[in-house]
Order: sequence, then structure tokens, then C-alpha cells
Amino acid sequence: MSETAQNDGFMALRQRGAAARAEGIRERFAADPARFEAFRFRFEDMLLDVSKCALGKDDLDALVELAGRAGVADKRDAMFSGAPINSTENRSVLHVALRGHVEDGFEAAGKPVGQEVEEVLARMSAFADGIRSGEIKGSTGKRITDVVNIGIGGSDLGPAMATLALAPYHDGPRAHFVSNVDGAHIADTIKLLDPETSLFIVASKTFTTIETMTNAQTAKDFVARALGDEAVGQHFAAVSTALDKVAAFGIDETRVFGFRDWVGGRYSVWSAIGLPVMIAIGPKNFRAFLEGARAMDRHFRSAPAAENLPMILGLVGWWHRVAQGYPARAILPYDQRLLRLPAYLQQLDMESNGKHVGLDGEPTRTVTGPLVWGEPGTNGQHAFYQLLHQGTDVIPCEFMVGANSHEPELKVHQDLLLANCLAQSEALMRGRTIAEAKQQLLDKGADAAEATRIAPHREFAGNRPSITIVYKLLDPFTFGRLVALYEHRVFVEGALFGINSFDQWGVELGKELATSLLPVVTGETDSSGHDGSTAGLVEAIRQMRS
Ligand code: F6P
Repeated sequence: MSETAQNDGFMALRQRGAAARAEGIRERFAADPARFEAFRFRFEDMLLDVSKCALGKDDLDALVELAGRAGVADKRDAMFSGAPINSTENRSVLHVALRGHVEDGFEAAGKPVGQEVEEVLARMSAFADGIRSGEIKGSTGKRITDVVNIGIGGSDLGPAMATLALAPYHDGPRAHFVSNVDGAHIADTIKLLDPETSLFIVASKTFTTIETMTNAQTAKDFVARALGDEAVGQHFAAVSTALDKVAAFGIDETRVFGFRDWVGGRYSVWSAIGLPVMIAIGPKNFRAFLEGARAMDRHFRSAPAAENLPMILGLVGWWHRVAQGYPARAILPYDQRLLRLPAYLQQLDMESNGKHVGLDGEPTRTVTGPLVWGEPGTNGQHAFYQLLHQGTDVIPCEFMVGANSHEPELKVHQDLLLANCLAQSEALMRGRTIAEAKQQLLDKGADAAEATRIAPHREFAGNRPSITIVYKLLDPFTFGRLVALYEHRVFVEGALFGINSFDQWGVELGKELATSLLPVVTGETDSSGHDGSTAGLVEAIRQMRS
């Protein structure tokens, strides 16, 4: 650790983090039963509880101070101002403008963008309404019943996650998402489709991504084979920043929806990339989703750091990762419709903050983004929670749950879901001592020797941190707030790490090597130049291929 880092106070915060970890969480509640009140934060009807983290009020104050020293608020303001904060690509970062109103006055490189955003939304809405009402038909005059989004990464995860999250509002055509270059993905989807009633949306910011282009070509062949080449146009639309490439693919410009390079792929669900979501839930609900995000943006911009949900979530995330040294975070939505949220947050967080070089081109002064993973509860409970409770690594857990569900007639389910969610965070924090485990065994009739032998296996260390987010109901507005909350949390952590959260050069090498390996796999060239393992694997695969 450099001297500067010490001056920045990282060292002091690490010591603080270690001390707070040693002091525990359970003990803090014992000492201060009203702790919840001091460590829960509200924004409208959303609540963020960080009281079950090893964190004192003075620690939180120190973190807020750190945010001040690190200039997080200034960096945030720079993002909202349209400054080119994506410094390695010299781009503004303005996904927030996509959910802004014209009067919010967003500008990229000094030029207003609000009107253009509004125009794209209006065109998307007209197209979505046309598909939903049946006014826009397939080439044989039939109504579109199935919409297939072909995209990958940010051009897939956001719309796929959002469409599922907002399933109760889904009253448009069926939605499908094809991303993997594995032919199984498109083959299994096509099996469900009638070409006459299908619409394919090719979604790619760059319109060069090999997976998407390959799947798009296969879909084009599927339509052309069934309905003729001339029918293709009526079964395709595209979303991209590369309008020239879309034209070359043969999609009519009236069916092309653009966005700008100031929208990062993983931040693009609010842009025209959200078209399949809009077709599924309708323009009005899509607008509510945008409004929710805008509300969180305004809160992020204006609330004091100590009351600001994205700031607090980011600071506690940083605390866990850097000050307390936890390697991962588990995303555990107690909401089945957030099934794809962990995958979405994997890209959002790991592609943004999985960096080892700071803005100055030097190695970062602290560790950076954690491993992000998860699965909805209660399913995860019956799979990997064993490790969360008794494994040798401590993994901070992030729970989220709606107070209400969209199925009031199934209240018993929601009651059970809520009880399970609360029980897990309580169990992680409280644990069970060896004496308690032994007593429980004795109470169940075990003899003393047996109780002594088994008790260590039934002990839970406890003091495992967790964060809980509670919201009223997962409606479009709330869902927009939730996703924007996580976007800004990633921003706050990235600002503290001193990195550029908006590029993703780390994915390039694999892409380059895949390109060079394709002719090796097809047998056009040999494997010279590749390492021994890769060459050996190519040879083994060649022998196995029929
Ligand atoms: O390879 C990573 C990535 O560039 C992501 O950042 C992006 O979301 C994804 O690929 C898809 O890119 P595109 O929308 O240009 O096809």
C-alpha cells in the first residue's frame, strides 16, 4: 500500500473494518436493540437495511467522509453533466438521460439529448402499439404473436430480466430471448415459433457481435425459407447505434431504433434496447419503469450522502469488499420474477468494476469489484445456503423482497416467502452456539456423548453480514428504482476504487482468440501458434467430430 493510499485513509478504514468485524453484529444488537432505526434508510416506499452488517455509526460516518474525500459526489455530478467520464473511450455516460424528461436538460458533449431520447421513445411506442394492437402484421397478414430478441450481454440481460420481472404487466405478444451462439438456443426457440406470426428484433449496440450476427442470420434464413426473401423485412426490426451496419443487414430504416455511444451496453435497458419489454408490457408501463429510475436518479443526485440509498449501498459494498476483505456478494431476491437479476447484476457489477488499473493507468490501490452471484430464494436455500451459513468464506448477502405480491389470492405463499427471507438474514447474523446446538440435541433425546460429537456440525458461527431491501410491490416504477439503485451503487464503488467503470476491455482478448481459433476448429488452418493444451484439445475435438 502506497503512502498516498495511507493518506487517503484506506489503511485506517481497513483497520476499522477488521475491528468492526471482530466486534461482531450479534453483539451490536444485544448492546443496542434500536440499532435498526440508525441503520435503515428510506427512499419513498423502499427501505434499505444495513443494520445486519458489522458496522458502527462511527464507521458509517467514516465511510461518508471517505466518499467526500474520494470526490464521489463530484464524479456523480460529472456523469450527470455529460462530461466524458468514460475516459478510455472518451465518451459521456448518460444512460440517466434515457429516463430523463426534456426539461431535465441532459447534454452530451454540450449538445442537448432530451429531444432525441423522446423521439426514439415515441417511435418505439408507435411500433410497440402497432405490434400489440395487430395493426403491424407479418408478411402474410397475420398478427404477431411472438417476439424474439436476438442479442447478448447488455443487449439481452436487461430486457430478458425486465420482461420476466414485470410479467404481471405482460399483455403483449409472447417474448423470447436468444443470446448464446450455441445453436441449441435458437433451434429450441424456433421450434416454438410460426414464422408467419414471429417478429425478430436484432439488438446489438455495435451490430458486429458474432453471437448476435450468427443468430440473426439463422433467424433470417428461417423466415426466408418459410416465407420467401421478400417477407424478411416484415419479420425483423433492429436496435443499434451502428445504423449503417443495420442497413447492410437489410432491415428497413423504419424498423430501426437507435441509441448513442454514451449508453453502455450494460446500462442500455432504458434505451431502444428495451423495445421487447415495451412490446410486452406496453408503452405506458415502460414509461413507469423509466420514471422509477428517474426518481432514483434524482434521489442519488440530491440526497445528502448519509441519507442517500445508492451512496449507502455503495459505501457498505466497499466496506465489505475493501475494509473487511470479503471476496464475493450474493444477490438473493425473494421474488421469483427477479430470477434473472443476479445474472444482470453480474454483468453490471463485474463488467463495470472488475478492473485492476485505475484511471491514472496505475494498479489500483485496493482490491476492486467482488464476485457477484446468486439465485432467488427460497430455491437457493435448498442449494448453496449451506456454504453461506457454515462455509469457510464469509459472503455478504443481499436480500430483497416485496411486502406484497401480485397474487393476493396466494397470500400464504407471500407470508412464507417473507418469513423465509427474514429468517435467513436473522440466522446468518445470530448463528447458533455450540452449547445451544448441544442442548437442542439433548432435548431431542440424544445422549451426552452423541450430543458432544454432533454439536460442532450443528454450530453456526453467525455474525455473517447481510443487507435487506424491502419494497411494497414489484411494479414497473419500483423495478425501475431498484435497477437504478444498483446502477448507482456500482458507480459509487467504482468511484471509490478510482477506476473507469464504463469500459470493458477485459472481454476483448477472448474475442480475438476466438476469431483466430475458428479456422483452426474448422480445419482450414492448423493450430500452430496456439499453446499445447489448446492444440491438444483441438485435435481431440477433431477426432470426436463426426
Ligand atoms: O463483450 C461484451 C459486450 O461488449 C458487452 O459490454 C455488451 O453488452 C455485449 O458485448 C453485447 O454487445 P453488442 O450490444 O454490441 O452486441
